[in-house]
Amino acid sequence: MQTLVLIKPDGVLRLKIGDIISRFENKGIRIAGLKMISVSKEMAERHYAVHKGKPFYESLIKYIMSGPVVAMVLDGKDVIDITRKLVGATNGAKAEPGTIRGDFSSSIDFNLIHASDSIDSANYEIPIFFKESEIINYERVDKSWL
Ligand SMILES: Nc1ncnc2c1ncn2[C@@H]1O[C@H](COP(=O)(O)OP(=O)(O)OP(=O)(O)O)[C@@H](O)[C@H]1O
Ligand SMILES: [Mg+2]
Repeated sequence: MQTLVLIKPDGVLRLKIGDIISRFENKGIRIAGLKMISVSKEMAERHYAVHKGKPFYESLIKYIMSGPVVAMVLDGKDVIDITRKLVGATNGAKAEPGTIRGDFSSSIDFNLIHASDSIDSANYEIPIFFKESEIINYERVDKSWL
């Protein structure tokens, strides 16, 4: 199973890339794809198509295009649910301490990170940001420990 994670521009500009990635590595999640990108309008609109028409849609598109984004494909058993748990609730002000948003964000407008919320979302979102050749299949050394 795979999921798409984006460290949004606020996470990159606040120098939280390492802190955020270490949460996933410490949990034992394998990073299968990783790059820094500028999100084009077309990519932003495809990625957030599900939110089109909502009051925050325009500002969401602006936000994701406002600076560099670190895009990742995470791979592993139950990785979608595990990742969403590590990320925490949408609103950083309400997210539990110990989660990425709970520890680093106190707003819903700037919540540092995106993570796919279902298999269907992941299958839709991953190809927006990654070519197949950019997703690498390798074995974790300590896989058998989980
Ligand atoms: N009420 C809101 N006001 C402002 N921004 C919002 C609001 N609701 C959601 N957003 C923004 O839109 C993004 C997508 O919203 P969604 O409901 O999918 O939340 P999420 O699944 O927790 O977050 P994400 O999809 O980024 O992982 C949120 O991460 C946040 O940046
Ligand atoms: Mg979402």
